Amino acid sequence: FNYNEKYRPLYHFTPQYGWMNDPNGMVYLDGVFHLFYQYNPYGARWGNMHWGHTVSKDLVNWEYKPFVLAPDKLGAIFSGSAVIDHDNTAGFGKGAMVAIFTSAGDRQTQSIAYSLDGGKTFTKYEGNPVLIDANIIDFRDPKVFWHAPSKQWVMSLATTQTITFYGSKNLKEWTRLSEFGEGLGGHGGVWECPDLFPLTYEGKTKWVLFVSINPGGPNGGSATQYFIGNFDGKTFTPDTMNYPLWLDYGRDNYAGVTWSNVPATDGRRLFIGWMSNWDYANEIPTENFRSAMTVARVLRLVHNGEHLVVASEPVKELESLRREAVLLGDKTRTNTSNAITFENFLPNNQGAYELTFTVTPNETDSFSFALENTKGETIKYLFDSANKTLSVDRSKSSVAFNANFAETLIKAPMVAKKSYTVRLLVDKSSTELFVNNGELVQTNAVFPTEVYNTLRFNTSKGTLTLKNVTVYKLK
Ligand code: FRU
Repeated sequence: FNYNEKYRPLYHFTPQYGWMNDPNGMVYLDGVFHLFYQYNPYGARWGNMHWGHTVSKDLVNWEYKPFVLAPDKLGAIFSGSAVIDHDNTAGFGKGAMVAIFTSAGDRQTQSIAYSLDGGKTFTKYEGNPVLIDANIIDFRDPKVFWHAPSKQWVMSLATTQTITFYGSKNLKEWTRLSEFGEGLGGHGGVWECPDLFPLTYEGKTKWVLFVSINPGGPNGGSATQYFIGNFDGKTFTPDTMNYPLWLDYGRDNYAGVTWSNVPATDGRRLFIGWMSNWDYANEIPTENFRSAMTVARVLRLVHNGEHLVVASEPVKELESLRREAVLLGDKTRTNTSNAITFENFLPNNQGAYELTFTVTPNETDSFSFALENTKGETIKYLFDSANKTLSVDRSKSSVAFNANFAETLIKAPMVAKKSYTVRLLVDKSSTELFVNNGELVQTNAVFPTEVYNTLRFNTSKGTLTLKNVTVYKLK
């Protein structure tokens, strides 16, 4: 098959051949970041779910590995997590890598498998499944971590439209701890792929709970909401906030969770998401593969001027891809002059680049910037201070392939600020927008028939000042 097919991203992870959805089992071990993923090795549509496998030393360059888990008599292998069992609590061996996943057969149950060769091969535990509930149909996506204060493994599990927490001493026997989520947050669809983890804010530990939901995202289809609160080893207690909050308001960041066992010397909370949306994932205009992951991101708790948010930004290792910085400069537009246009801003544009700039509008003005190509295709970003909204219009961005894709405005609430720092990662079939160091994020897939090579800024009135407009070609 043709590895270089048209919409194959240049710097995002994609399966060589076949279908991919959720990232699974992300775990760090001995200098290597492991990424497993929902994988169909036999076709480029969802089905026959396996765990695919890839590894990286820098979260940027990924090496393909053979898949590690295939369907068995308990069912297909759905999403889950992996931990390193440093104290041999399960008895598989000291430092074993243990995968905890959903067996999806006639019913959904939780199973485990272990690897004693650093994630190359896994052996399924003969006592599977390790967790059953006869009454819950949507019962899946176990995410496990070691909770030191209560000396137990804690599993977050999606249970229809709540998250149920379970505790275990040995990864094999699980007891129910508590249930969270009724009447709180988004409930427009089934809850999936939870992740509970600590983040520090002003020296204090807060607990963040990610819950992916499908459908019912802020702009339709699937998206990831989160809650901020506390966890005492038994119960998650959310802070009073205006839920739902969304990690990424774009249409294409789903089922993302974080790496386990990242060393304290690194200290980052590292994330990756599936860069697609169940609304159209099976129909995107690729042939030999379907879907890419987002770039790896770092999560932080920050205050956006109105409330706490989970900010996400590309890992710093991504900067190693930067080549040929083109400084487009500083510009000011006033209401008597035309739009600010940078034509052919990247010579030899292969469709993979990064744009950064700081923009200062007149206080109450809205402004926009757009990427365009010579075919009239465009993706537009509209910063509307009056309505406190950042909207993305990709309705004319792409080749036509699915009515659900060419929707109208993809909206995110925006805290109006004096200036905005903007970073936009563009690849052959994606755009990842990070505003003010990831306080506001929009990830949206695009399938233009030609690379975008014009950048155009506009403001309805007043002035618009641009500083340090820079484009980096990405390797
Ligand atoms: C989320 C999801 C999970 C499930 C997996 C199946 O995208 O529906 O809940 O485990 O995909 O592939």
